Amino acid sequence: MELINIGHPFETDALVNLENVKIISDSIKFQEDTQFSLSVENVIVLKYKMSLHDKIYGLGEQMRGINKRGGLYESFATDDPSHVPDRVSLYGAHNFFILDSETLPVGIFIDFPGKVTFDMGFTHKDELEVTIQGKDAKILWIKGQTKLEIVQKFLKCIGPSFLPPKWAFGFQQSRWSYPNAESVKYIADEFDRHNIPLDTIYLDIDYMERYKNFTVDEERFPNFKAFVKEMRSRGIRLIPIIDAGCKIEEDYFLHETGVKNGFYCVDENKEPFVGAVWPGKVHFPDFINPEARTWFGDQYNVLIDQGIEGFWNDMNEPAIFYSEKGLEEAIDHAVSCKGKNLDIQSFFALKDKFMSVSNSMKDYQSFYHRKDGQMYNHMDLHNLYGYNMTRAAGEAFERNYPAKRMLLFSRASYVGMHRYGGIWTGDNHAWWEHLLLNVRMMPSLNMVGFIYSGADVGGFGAHADSELITRWTQFAIFTPLFRNHACMGTRDQEPFRFDEESTDTLRNTIQLRYALHRYLYSEFMKHRNNYDMLFKPLSFVYDDEASAQVEDQLLYGDGLMLAPVYTPNAKGRYVYLPEDMLMWQLKKYDDYQMEIFEKGHHYISVPLEATTTFIGKNKLVVLNKPTNRIENIDTSRLFLKGFIEDQGVYVLYDDDGISREPKSKNMVITVSYEGKELIINCEGDQLCQTLAYDIYTSDQKRHKGEYHV
Ligand code: NOJ
Repeated sequence: MELINIGHPFETDALVNLENVKIISDSIKFQEDTQFSLSVENVIVLKYKMSLHDKIYGLGEQMRGINKRGGLYESFATDDPSHVPDRVSLYGAHNFFILDSETLPVGIFIDFPGKVTFDMGFTHKDELEVTIQGKDAKILWIKGQTKLEIVQKFLKCIGPSFLPPKWAFGFQQSRWSYPNAESVKYIADEFDRHNIPLDTIYLDIDYMERYKNFTVDEERFPNFKAFVKEMRSRGIRLIPIIDAGCKIEEDYFLHETGVKNGFYCVDENKEPFVGAVWPGKVHFPDFINPEARTWFGDQYNVLIDQGIEGFWNDMNEPAIFYSEKGLEEAIDHAVSCKGKNLDIQSFFALKDKFMSVSNSMKDYQSFYHRKDGQMYNHMDLHNLYGYNMTRAAGEAFERNYPAKRMLLFSRASYVGMHRYGGIWTGDNHAWWEHLLLNVRMMPSLNMVGFIYSGADVGGFGAHADSELITRWTQFAIFTPLFRNHACMGTRDQEPFRFDEESTDTLRNTIQLRYALHRYLYSEFMKHRNNYDMLFKPLSFVYDDEASAQVEDQLLYGDGLMLAPVYTPNAKGRYVYLPEDMLMWQLKKYDDYQMEIFEKGHHYISVPLEATTTFIGKNKLVVLNKPTNRIENIDTSRLFLKGFIEDQGVYVLYDDDGISREPKSKNMVITVSYEGKELIINCEGDQLCQTLAYDIYTSDQKRHKGEYHV
């Protein structure tokens, strides 16, 4: 691995482990080694001539497919709820990609906090061109024999992911908003009445007193502390939202202390910069300044002291609805149009004036961060804002609650933020295309460290129907963050809101998530600890050309392949098997079909009630009996499934799920087969008492029985 420092790069703290990295300052050598041409003028440009077979993977939270070739992408954290195919930037800035060339794959990370453009063969089909909007940057260059090896080296450089608590692997229900205690209770009651598992309910902006961070509206949530406790006694945790913008209001503690200590971003006159978001006018905490981070992070205690154990950080690109100046200009323009006969140009100019008031570049250019006595224009550090908001919270949790894990995730992010919290992928829509996007994005997110992540299941914007919710839930039982969330004004989409049949299917699917809990947690932790990807494109493991073409199937953990349904009215779908595999199609955790399929292309029937997965050769999966809360899972009995040719080994990992430095336990399950009898053996920690097994061997035999550990 080689790192080239160009100019005087701003320290983003993305790279925290440079143990095996050679630092070079010679761009000529860089060009010789990498075959990239590098030019440094007002901007830095990296160019590479691609051959026909080159493919590109990575870039984290971006549109398009798993292979990113042919697209144009921009790293500039953007609050835009319209994730249409040609959108070039979403909320994350994840400047890492792998160029999978005919010779050897290479990985490149551009550590630069401002805007970066990735033209991956969009303008000229064979030209890869990266443009960094500045003269100072770090470029990390990683060679490896395989794509996976490169990712693992990169993940080591950026450090391990934060540890979410075990309960955060349960089902999570959200909506903008459950506006009061009654509506939250109603949701909990309905889940219980329908016997659907649930671990958390989210509080969106309406729990606050007039959208003020770290306050609770006492009318709508009287005696919040007692309410949190009451929900907790039912096994449900409440997860409140925190926004980046802080209301400007006299006598509001956050406003007063922030202004007094100079903790807010400033304008060119060094006065706190004024923008507007939900509460109207706000200041933005200067998260780049470590002291401001400490101050803001400690504010979470207001809610933690009332029993809260998890948060989601929102609007932290930061989203700015308007600034006084921008709005005034638009209004003046509108007034000047009054009474005029507007033709095409003047009408669109008027419309654009208002459309461009939000998240405007002019506003981003007009405020500053302060660190170590130096001022930095926001544009130059834009992509670090959400990262450092989440870092503020993560650092505070570690400082104030060193023993305990908290749930934390963010909308905006930069590489390195995963050490403090996860991400959700923002305002998607109840569109089938966005279910597919969720599938394709998961491995790219894992490539940049975001292993605790997920999308709004069912879609945030637009009205969802029961079939979409069902298919999406069937995929999302595998995403570590498993949350159904919807926008204000959209149709209710909790799993019990549709017809009885859909409720039954959704109950069975969510129960399946809970039945897979010990396996999913074990896989999450092992992959996190080993700097590995939990979701992989097929081509990261299998090197045949057909696998490289697959854009709608993923390898999950060590052993499963997922082939989700992402089209309406589907009775079946085509699946490519890179080797012989055992199809495992489940209507319920204990009601399933298994069938061996040979390597190759197959059309598989996929009933709406069933989640379809495939178990690889010599791979094992464990299930437990589902419950309605993660904390009630019975650990005594496990169900072992597998597809064995000669020998399969599964290491079941477990820990207490709440300590930051957990004592890990591992049980090694070995299943051997020599053509006659199946031999099961367990070693290491005793993580269950009984293993009820149902295993297929490649000679088409099914073996059932019980093994006592
Ligand atoms: C935008 C977020 O992306 C969304 O999830 C949330 O519901 C709204 N803000 C309101 O807070």
